[in-house]
Amino acid sequence: MRIILLGAPGSGKGTMAQKLTSELNIPQISTGDIFRKNLREGTPLGLRVKDIMASGALVPDEITIEIVKNRLIEPDCANGYILDGFPRSIAQAEALDAFQSIDCAVNLDVDNETVVKRLSGRRFCPDCSGTFHVSSLGNAKTCPQCGGKLIIRADDSEETVRERLRVYEKTTFPLIEHYEKLGKLITVDGNGGIDVVYRRILDALKK
Ligand code: AP5
Ligand code: MG
Ligand code: ZN
Repeated sequence: MRIILLGAPGSGKGTMAQKLTSELNIPQISTGDIFRKNLREGTPLGLRVKDIMASGALVPDEITIEIVKNRLIEPDCANGYILDGFPRSIAQAEALDAFQSIDCAVNLDVDNETVVKRLSGRRFCPDCSGTFHVSSLGNAKTCPQCGGKLIIRADDSEETVRERLRVYEKTTFPLIEHYEKLGKLITVDGNGGIDVVYRRILDALKK
């Protein structure tokens, strides 16, 4: 299955993609994680995207499209994949449409208030890309999955979150209509606990 996860920052794309990837046995492709890995390793791409990501803006389409195209032709994508955070502009969606046919775009519909709560308590593991929330971590400072040191993402500052939400409304929100017109949109209520939302996604995918 070729699945896109759509949704605002903090809607739960990464959390749901990680669960789907182990259940469906297809890779999670997160452009945000790819950029963060390059940033950490100080690659030319990492240096190029550093300030853009810190500001909450989008990395230019031509860079992102190229990266995803190269990733989707890798052998592990042969039976499908879960795109987490791509596409996020009409240009990216059109480039993907021209390149491969996806099965569905799952839109995680979440209230703004919930998004802010989720992002302000998020903890991230740079080693395995695990995503957690202080509400379930207690005092833990290390990753429950791999033992890595948990961090607060640089773009989870209040100011950058506000900018990311603005960018989402302006540039990414129109993708909902794009996939609706193609008859590929599935909207899922993304409010509620992780297991509840995940169950809704699985039920929607079965249909
Ligand atoms: P990216 O990393 O994709 O960030 P984002 O889209 O802003 O989304 P987030 O990762 O913040 O949220 P999420 O929906 O994954 O939520 P999560 O599961 O973590 O992109 C970062 C940057 O990279 C962009 O700003 C841009 O600069 C660049 N970039 C990336 N892709 C690009 C592209 N295609 N084009 C151009 N630029 C690009 O959950 C959030 C929190 O909530 C966690 O703490 C989690 O534990 C908790 N949580 C999740 N679900 C639930 C639930 N159901 N109940 C309770 N808590 C929950
Ligand atoms: Mg994410
Ligand atoms: Zn980890």
